Amino acid sequence: MQTDQIIQGVTSGIHQQPDGKSWLLVTEYSTYALGVSEEGLLLQLYWGARLPLGTDIAAARLPRERSSQDVALTLAPEVYPVMGGLRYGEIAAQAVFSDGTRDIDLRFASAEIGEKQGLPELRLHLRDAAYPLEVTLSYRVDSKNDLIIRAASFHNLGDEEILLERAFSAAWHLPQQFSSRRLTTLAGHWAGESRVQQQPIVAGSVQIESRKGVTGSTAYPWFAIDTQATEQQGEVYFGTIAWSGNWNLRISTRITGETTIAGGIHEHDFAWVLAGKQSFTTPDFVAGFAEDGFNGGRHRLHNYVRQHVLPQPQASQPRPVLYNSWEATTFDVSEEGQSKLAEHAAALGVELFVVDDGWFPARNHDHAGLGDWRVDPQKFPNGLQPLVDRVHGLGMQFGIWVEPEMVNPDSDLYRAHPDWIYHFPTRSRSEARNQLVLNVGRQDVQEYLIDLLDKLIGDHGVDFIKWDMNRPISEPGWPEYVAAGHNAREIWVRHVEGVYTIMDTLRARHPNLSIESCASGGSRADLGILERTDQVWSSDNTHPDARLFIQEGISHILPGRVMGDWVTDTPSDRVQNEIPLTYRFHVAMMGMLGIGGHLLHWSEEDLAEARRWIAVYKQIRPLVQDGDQYWLISPSATAGDWAAVESVAPDASEAVVFVYRRTNPFWETTPRLRLQGLTPNSTYRVQLMGQPDAEPQQYSGASLMHQGIALPLSRSSYASCILHLQKVS
Ligand code: DGJ
Repeated sequence: MQTDQIIQGVTSGIHQQPDGKSWLLVTEYSTYALGVSEEGLLLQLYWGARLPLGTDIAAARLPRERSSQDVALTLAPEVYPVMGGLRYGEIAAQAVFSDGTRDIDLRFASAEIGEKQGLPELRLHLRDAAYPLEVTLSYRVDSKNDLIIRAASFHNLGDEEILLERAFSAAWHLPQQFSSRRLTTLAGHWAGESRVQQQPIVAGSVQIESRKGVTGSTAYPWFAIDTQATEQQGEVYFGTIAWSGNWNLRISTRITGETTIAGGIHEHDFAWVLAGKQSFTTPDFVAGFAEDGFNGGRHRLHNYVRQHVLPQPQASQPRPVLYNSWEATTFDVSEEGQSKLAEHAAALGVELFVVDDGWFPARNHDHAGLGDWRVDPQKFPNGLQPLVDRVHGLGMQFGIWVEPEMVNPDSDLYRAHPDWIYHFPTRSRSEARNQLVLNVGRQDVQEYLIDLLDKLIGDHGVDFIKWDMNRPISEPGWPEYVAAGHNAREIWVRHVEGVYTIMDTLRARHPNLSIESCASGGSRADLGILERTDQVWSSDNTHPDARLFIQEGISHILPGRVMGDWVTDTPSDRVQNEIPLTYRFHVAMMGMLGIGGHLLHWSEEDLAEARRWIAVYKQIRPLVQDGDQYWLISPSATAGDWAAVESVAPDASEAVVFVYRRTNPFWETTPRLRLQGLTPNSTYRVQLMGQPDAEPQQYSGASLMHQGIALPLSRSSYASCILHLQKVS
């Protein structure tokens, strides 16, 4: 960690000017600078490519007032603009003091440099000019990954309550630029998540958000802003909010070309009562700058997620190949049926067998049972243990599906505790998928769920839970809380904190447990949930055509080890056409490989092929799960006809390349594919995977990157291949 005073010829780390009033946050390839103006305001001075000298940074001065309608305070790039005074741009915080004053006036008080979670941290304390409110802005610097991780803490130093009505994590400012900037976001819906959207940046505001109580699939808390970048090169600013509830990201550009990004917990229906001597800390907002295109952004976030977010020790272990019973059996589960599937799965080389929905009483459809997390004696007359033992005996881990935040009205839990769900007494309780949401902000509900899940895991030796969440929160009331004099608008935050507490407690009690985050597919895929889960179920849509788009989008946030992909059956209710098993495997092998097809219906040939691909996957798994991922051909850019993804070992000694061509209506010759990230002067041995008879070829890294490689693809539809590269000299 650098905390020295060197400003000339700066090194990576946090540097403070001798006057203690400005700071440089220097990473390998970027510089972020901020300073205190004469008025005591904290201004961002620069963010972008790394600057060689500290003296390259101008002093912190308010911009000149242009007119009485364009005042300095609104034009100033404040690092944390609040609602107060003449501020009319993006604001990060809004509060009401006990006397009704709705105006914050924060001035710089002090700063210190320390360390948090293994990263150097700059803490800046701001004090309100008239009220006992202190706001601490935290900046952690991940120099290796060119990331800055920001959060804000509100401290009520007095005794009177302060009502927070907005508490964003951060505001970021991009250097002024008039044209050619573009905004990339991810959007979708159930079974069509995380699709890349791009739009030119013009004067005005764009908002992406979730108001569902969960991260959501309509939009993801991630953005990128580039200047004519490609996947491989060009300037990209990117960022993501580590929060699994309501969030809001606002990107605003002035007519003069200044862009501000502000975001954090959504202010929609948000309130937090800061009682005397209490504090409130926002989630992290992680942001970075890359000059090597969108793939550069991916590498940085993936590394950060692996190194600083995902739970250990699981994050350092290979993620197992999984089988999940949902698509095969839906609610029709039984000891015998699951055991048979487990036997087939084990014979293929599967390492984790997961029983999905349907194992608890009355769960023969989605109208009943949620909340009663006991084993159904009809489906499992001998309890769950014989199946768990069978799965363990077959050498696999055992996993089970739960949806802890939910109840069906037709459940013993709801009949016993109708008051445990969010509701307003005068309103009906809206059902979605026939279920209601438990008030997980309540401590008694948390304790109840912890106790139940702890027993389920501990008593049976469960290794993995798939934690699902299949509907948004509605009627966000909590009558007892209001009756006790509290503000029920806190539920949006309390719910997320409740989920985090339950997961954290279970993990602390069962250190070997792994958790999959699922919310009807990929609706809860954010860096907040990843602090306590190991993988994400990316989408209920397993159609490879759809998957390439979904996986492309989500790969901006999730590394390969987290992105859950299954091979399922075709044709099926959801996938009308027959798609070669090879192609289905190749698409699913790009992330965390799983199988979801009905193995008892697979032919011997299919089973043999599956066995081969699982073995291949295990061979390339370290690259797929932990390598630097390059999207070489974007499906979004080719209307889904093509995709190519490469994962390279950090030392460039090895790489794997997946190529997909869905259709070739013009019978075009297959183009050569230019690879990335190799050592130019090294020689690589290239092997076509899954075809041991194929003669390996040798090429220099330079040739593979500049001349490209000829692709051994057939002319048929759904052609695909996997190439494995190993450095030989
Ligand atoms: C939604 C999930 O996304 C599916 O994978 C499956 O677990 C079902 N829920 C079960 O109800």
